[in-house]
Amino acid sequence: MTTPNWRHKDLLDTKDLSPSEILYLLDTAAQFEEVNTRPVKKVPTLRGKGVILFFAEPSTRTKTSFDIAGKRLSADTFSLAKSGSSLTKGESLKDTALTLEAMAPDIIVIRHSSSGAAAFLADRLACSIVNAGDGWHAHPTQALLDAYTLRKHWQGEMRGKTVVIIGDIMHSRVARSNMHLLTQLGAKVRLFGPRTLLPKGVHNWPVTVYDDMNKAVKDADAVMCLRLQLERQQAGLLPDLSEYAARFCLQQKHLDLAAPGAPVLHPGPINRGLEISSDLADAPESRILDQVAAGVAVRMAVLFTLGMRNEAA
Ligand code: CP
Repeated sequence: MTTPNWRHKDLLDTKDLSPSEILYLLDTAAQFEEVNTRPVKKVPTLRGKGVILFFAEPSTRTKTSFDIAGKRLSADTFSLAKSGSSLTKGESLKDTALTLEAMAPDIIVIRHSSSGAAAFLADRLACSIVNAGDGWHAHPTQALLDAYTLRKHWQGEMRGKTVVIIGDIMHSRVARSNMHLLTQLGAKVRLFGPRTLLPKGVHNWPVTVYDDMNKAVKDADAVMCLRLQLERQQAGLLPDLSEYAARFCLQQKHLDLAAPGAPVLHPGPINRGLEISSDLADAPESRILDQVAAGVAVRMAVLFTLGMRNEAA
């Protein structure tokens, strides 16, 4: 691997990335996917580099895959959760971040419930910051691994493909990051969800909004379901979960309307029978576990690129 010419200190949002930068990360991830198939899944690329995983919100997939990614690149990874940190004693995010930086990490990966938390750190710290999900705002590595999964399914071609995103769009950092990334790569994005869970200003987004599941899914090349983010919702946005499932839970009969072989994605964690039928989650069209596997390779690419970047670029 050669030293990447990379202009960004941080990875905060997919909207900061050009199409060629997105493709560079996806191509680099493809090279690291091969490492993940070897009997000894480790390369010395980031030996001597330190990566702090600062997760102030719960995570299974993102935290574990960043940890595995760092270790497979031979970086030293250190984990800090909100519950075990001095944030619970009233220390501010700024002071926590300055404290972490004093220990000289090369990269801090942060997940936080506040939109803008990763950018707040990036403005104040010299080390690289990777946004592992901030509030409703962005989840760039999720969108990258989704694109990686789709690109692999379509054997490289994204331009002209139609991806429909279904569910709780308003609270979804995954939907926002995917919308930017997919449109940068020339895909068309459709959205379908309850009217009360569409963001204000969605009609200014480069997407088409549907009000009917069958029309939204018809002839789509891929279908992406979103988690219903009850922890972020104010009371009254949803009438009743069974009513939600009746209108917005993706089932085989809907997928039958999509283009033949259309893959089904979900960022996880999934709520079976609410966002996606249990049968469909386990069906051959489901790429949910492929997305998880792609997460390791994509996060290796991100850590490698930031850890080894040529700062003169
Ligand atoms: N998709 C995703 O971010 O999952 P986790 O919350 O488990 O990291």
